[in-house]
Amino acid sequence: MKNNGIIESHDLSIEEIKNSLSGSMCAVGKKIIFLETVDSTNTHAMELAGKGCEEGTVVIADAQTGGKGRLGRKWLSPAGKNIYMSIVLRPHIPPRNAAILTLMSAVSCATAIKKCSSIPVTIKWPNDLMVAGKKIGGILTEIKADMDRISYAVIGIGINVNLNPMDMPAEIGSTMTSIKHHSGDVYPRTEIAVEILKETDRWYSILLNTGKKPIADEWMLLSSGIGRTVKVTVGDTVFTGVAESIDEEGMLMLRLPDNSIKKINSGDVAILR
Ligand code: BTN
Repeated sequence: MKNNGIIESHDLSIEEIKNSLSGSMCAVGKKIIFLETVDSTNTHAMELAGKGCEEGTVVIADAQTGGKGRLGRKWLSPAGKNIYMSIVLRPHIPPRNAAILTLMSAVSCATAIKKCSSIPVTIKWPNDLMVAGKKIGGILTEIKADMDRISYAVIGIGINVNLNPMDMPAEIGSTMTSIKHHSGDVYPRTEIAVEILKETDRWYSILLNTGKKPIADEWMLLSSGIGRTVKVTVGDTVFTGVAESIDEEGMLMLRLPDNSIKKINSGDVAILR
């Protein structure tokens, strides 16, 4: 299938995405850009945002050559298998609240995948989408802000849809899964992308109209690590404790063995028991 001269895979149709969204969305998906290959949809979307593209612009690629993960990691992005998508938002919130955008996206993606596939996706703080202890997707939010206002944010979403983890390097293949690998069924990426965009639009309206609390509450319901004993690695430091909750800024509240609470804003969580 061709879209403005660009070849689309059979299960990822931008025309179908546009048709499914038309008329029903408040902000997200007003403009959708498809690229067969790009270094990173996030980098591309940040550039468009810097040039003034409209809020809700979505960049989707079939493959990425320089996909970015959290904490400077790479996000391997083979063609024809997964969703690589970035959404430009212009929320009027201070930069210290930016983490709520990642929580909002995690809630939106988990809800969308559950609706499409019935896979019991959970969220591991801050942004890992998990099923049966393996990673099925991740979110990377980037912002441009001055001291008191975000000028724009890009929410980057990577979902393993039809990927075979065995095709990935062994060290990461063993930690990941995909919707197909977990369920045994092949899912059209179009359907999942549409549902993610609809959920993102719905939760973004809630954020703008009601505030952060409904998102934080839903995040808690979908989380797999809250109430569990976890090991949190922050740079070279490791904290072990009970993950009690998140606050409205998206910080993890960790109850340490001396009963004090440590607030953590960035790190890697491993669930111990
Ligand atoms: C993580 O869990 O480390 C976050 C992964 C985010 C990957 C997505 S794929 C689409 C978008 N473009 C990127 O370069 N990264 C995000």
